[in-house]
Amino acid sequence: MPDAILSISGLSKTYATGFHALKNIDLEIQRGEIFALLGPNGAGKTTLISIVCGIVNASTGKVLVDGHDIAADYRAARSLIGLVPQELTTEAFETVWNTVSFSRGLFGKPAKPAHIEKVLKDLSLWDKKDNTIRTLSGGMKRRLLIAKALSHEPQVLFLDEPTAGVDVTLRQEMWQLVRSLRDTGVTIILTTHYIDEAEVMADRIGVISKGEIILVEDKTELMRKLGKKQLTLQLAQPLQSVPGALSALSLELSGNGCELTYTYDAQHEHSGIAALLQELDAAGIAFKDLRTSQSSLEDIFVSLVREKEQ
Ligand SMILES: Nc1ncnc2c1ncn2[C@@H]1O[C@H](COP(=O)(O)OP(=O)(O)O)[C@@H](O)[C@H]1O
Ligand SMILES: [Mg+2]
Repeated sequence: MPDAILSISGLSKTYATGFHALKNIDLEIQRGEIFALLGPNGAGKTTLISIVCGIVNASTGKVLVDGHDIAADYRAARSLIGLVPQELTTEAFETVWNTVSFSRGLFGKPAKPAHIEKVLKDLSLWDKKDNTIRTLSGGMKRRLLIAKALSHEPQVLFLDEPTAGVDVTLRQEMWQLVRSLRDTGVTIILTTHYIDEAEVMADRIGVISKGEIILVEDKTELMRKLGKKQLTLQLAQPLQSVPGALSALSLELSGNGCELTYTYDAQHEHSGIAALLQELDAAGIAFKDLRTSQSSLEDIFVSLVREKEQ
């Protein structure tokens, strides 16, 4: 049975400039999932997160965090949320331990050193607990922000562009970390403009473009539904053009006429491959090799956003 921990309905935001940053957003996040909100820069991802976290006021709409209304029941709602912001800002001269402990206090929660210790250990910051923040590396500072966000034992963790501008090694470390956090029972909502990040990390993906959620889907289902497959044949002899007998099929000739690519819908039971091979045989076209490939989430995303813009 679906069990929503975050429920957003009819949410819109018009900034003071008159800019319509969010348009009637409806979204439900299930307890325990990793949800990726995927969209290009300026799509409204940070605005959406900022509203849920109470940093920006909504123009219209309703947000419930585990049943608590973020407007009417702000303190209860906010205490269930941890936020790792897009911009890295930390106090330079405070120690790791104090910074994380202080964050917990901001939520009115009583001190709980055992929890702070666990968080610092989980984030590989335990041996740095007495260091001042300015002595930490960039990767450690990012982990510190996560530690701060987890200090008050939230049930939902928002990570706004957790790997923007981060090198490859650190990115993979971050992905590993996010998964291990989910394994501790925290629901994770991350925003990203990196398609591969959504593809690797998420259980479900929501695509946002120009303030509208244009699609929400289980990741594997999304790839299955929208995924096109391609069959590429290495021809024995180059062709000048696709023979007329085959013109009804979606075929493309490339590689100086040596490669024939057939694009088909992966979800159709009848792919048309058998018919293609028969037609090729009848036309006397031989091939020496063949391979198939499936479109990535990137292809899907690009075509979705393009459709929207037309
Ligand atoms: N305080 C603000 N006032 C006016 N416009 C804003 C403000 N904050 C963000 N915007 C605009 O709203 C749009 C969405 O921004 P944002 O939510 O930061 O997108 P994202 O996080 O997806 O890159 C952008 O066009 C941005 O310029
Ligand atoms: Mg943003």
